[in-house]
Amino acid sequence: MNIENAIKHFRTLLEEQIARTERMAKDNEKIDFSSLPQIIIGVIGGDGIGPIITDEAEVLLRSILKDEIESGKILIKNIKGLTIENRTAKNQAIPTDVLEEIKTCHVLLKGPTTTPNGGTLESANVAMRRELDLFANVRPVVVPEEGIDWIFFRENTEGEYVLGSHGIEIPDTLAVDFKVITDLGTRRIAKAAFEYAKQNGKNKIAIITKANIMKKTDGKFSKICHEVAAEYPGIDADEWYVDIMAANLIKENVRSRYQVFVLPNLYGDILTDEAAQLQGGVGTAGSANIGNKYAMFEAIHGSAPRMIERGDADYANPSSMFKASEMLLRHIGFVEKAESLSKALENIKFPTDRSETCQEFGERLRSVL
Ligand code: IPM
Ligand code: MG
Repeated sequence: MNIENAIKHFRTLLEEQIARTERMAKDNEKIDFSSLPQIIIGVIGGDGIGPIITDEAEVLLRSILKDEIESGKILIKNIKGLTIENRTAKNQAIPTDVLEEIKTCHVLLKGPTTTPNGGTLESANVAMRRELDLFANVRPVVVPEEGIDWIFFRENTEGEYVLGSHGIEIPDTLAVDFKVITDLGTRRIAKAAFEYAKQNGKNKIAIITKANIMKKTDGKFSKICHEVAAEYPGIDADEWYVDIMAANLIKENVRSRYQVFVLPNLYGDILTDEAAQLQGGVGTAGSANIGNKYAMFEAIHGSAPRMIERGDADYANPSSMFKASEMLLRHIGFVEKAESLSKALENIKFPTDRSETCQEFGERLRSVL
């Protein structure tokens, strides 16, 4: 790619991103689950250990929602084809027919999908978050014995991710990727975090940036979060750089002070894996990807291809998908069912000594619900 082509490419990217913010400005369609005659849940298995842990979560959901499924209030649909084989064959992050099927659902439960390193195939996750405009990635991490009760509001549609597959490379010389932060994109994630805090009796929010270095993008993220904070006088907003926050999360005498975090996409990706590790590993953490219209619930971890290679995938921990199911139930209005699942998950843990398979653990959990 010569300089002229690179500049042309950059112009197109800017135009596309401006068009995206214009679409964002018009998007106010919010779904009211209580008024829907039927709620359609799409279940997507994914790759690697995905189908194993997702099947188990589907069995769990079907058992919790048995009456609603019988009465037709809930429909659970299986969506096939979001596999690395099919995505590679079609060279599409989400094959067109699969995306159409996905859009017929209200909410989704999705197993991890494999993201190729390099190449041109975009991550299915990133594509889904963009296509369904799932702007808030909400990730709770709770360790009661340590006094940790955190919830991360990770911006999910822009930052380092939105153009992650559209960088510029001058072969053998240099490569450039882009980070995009928009006013509207920041305002909506900040609002989501502050509203959550207000409605859940939290009085502190940590805004995470590296605005001393990423002056334009994180500078904007910081400024807009503080503007939103001014609308919530009862909530203290503190700004922290991401490096020191990574340290503070493992600093025992301070970490329990944090409550709600709001952060750009990549910092959210990294800090939530770190946080989940304190809770017992990424296998224990669920994640909600929320937009105005659609919502998708998933594990925070990947498809664990090494477990498949070693042949011990039956021992994959389904807790992350169970947590995701709990968040799904809460989102569609089944708060009591979500609460009882949450209690069960607090008391019943997946053993770390390989004494129980994914399926056996699922059975044990269902027996107490
Ligand atoms: C996550 C994952 C994804 C991400 C990958 C699979 C694209 O790590 O949900 O945190 O980077 O967002
Ligand atoms: Mg991640």
